[in-house]
Amino acid sequence: MSIAILTNYRNPATWKNALQAKLPDTKIDIFSASEDAVNAEFLVCWKPEKDQLKAFKNLKVIQSLGAGVDHIFDTNTVEKGVKVVRIIDERLSADMWEYTLAATMFYLKDFAQYNRRKSYQYWRTHQYKTIPETRVSILGLGQIGGYVAQQFAKLSFKTQGWSNSPKKIRKVKSFAGEKQLFKMLKQTDVLINILPLTASTKGILNEKLLSQLPKGAYLINVGRGGHLVENDLIPLIDNGHLSGATLDVFHTEPLPKPHPFWKHPKIQITPHVASLTNLESAVHQVVENYKRMKRGEELLNEVSPQKGY
Ligand code: GLV
Repeated sequence: MSIAILTNYRNPATWKNALQAKLPDTKIDIFSASEDAVNAEFLVCWKPEKDQLKAFKNLKVIQSLGAGVDHIFDTNTVEKGVKVVRIIDERLSADMWEYTLAATMFYLKDFAQYNRRKSYQYWRTHQYKTIPETRVSILGLGQIGGYVAQQFAKLSFKTQGWSNSPKKIRKVKSFAGEKQLFKMLKQTDVLINILPLTASTKGILNEKLLSQLPKGAYLINVGRGGHLVENDLIPLIDNGHLSGATLDVFHTEPLPKPHPFWKHPKIQITPHVASLTNLESAVHQVVENYKRMKRGEELLNEVSPQKGY
């Protein structure tokens, strides 16, 4: 029995140390340094490269190091019988709430515009927006999206959310299914995408959908880069339909240097940091899943390969 760690863009050594401290008798290898992927039954994984998992012939469990699992299904074929589990952690939800609140307030108080004006010392005031008059709509009311919606509502934003099936969240208006999506969009000032990336949500943030928003609405994408049709966004901002966007995720990460998003004055960019897995709070569930696998028990936070989340 052994654990392998394969993480791109994350520090595998800190995970190895944290896991080893809790599982002192278990062999734990960082993949690139490991000669025996073949012995690993439990893989701790973030953004594997294409077909990189083929080397792991005896896998039983793939533990995603994040809330999302699209990085696994998009790049690799997961053999039948191999279980895929993800991180569900209060810290992930709380951090996402803080990020989306910050981006929303940035928009409400026109910070981007004042920042641009600072560079040419231009003093001009104009009317700002306030929380009670702002309609925030969340796409995706799962573990994280549901929590974020609840927090916006508590702060007295007019809050609504869209999901596959109707959800009951205090003071959050629930919209469900394809038909109700456009209805919600028409009453939205800030649209926040927290959907999982699946075959049916890929490219959902496209010209058709974004055009349903009222003039001047603002987009925050903290889901995945694949949700947004990137070429559709800039024309909608340049023609004044959208007032701007905050983007944390992109088709290609890191965002390539020549990409027009970098230089667009109304697009704020962060490097996929809206909500990072916190090692201290997440390590327990990884250890627990390893122990459950050994005992042949049901795992925590298993995803459905069919649904992709
Ligand atoms: C981050 O993007 C995650 O999936 O946790």
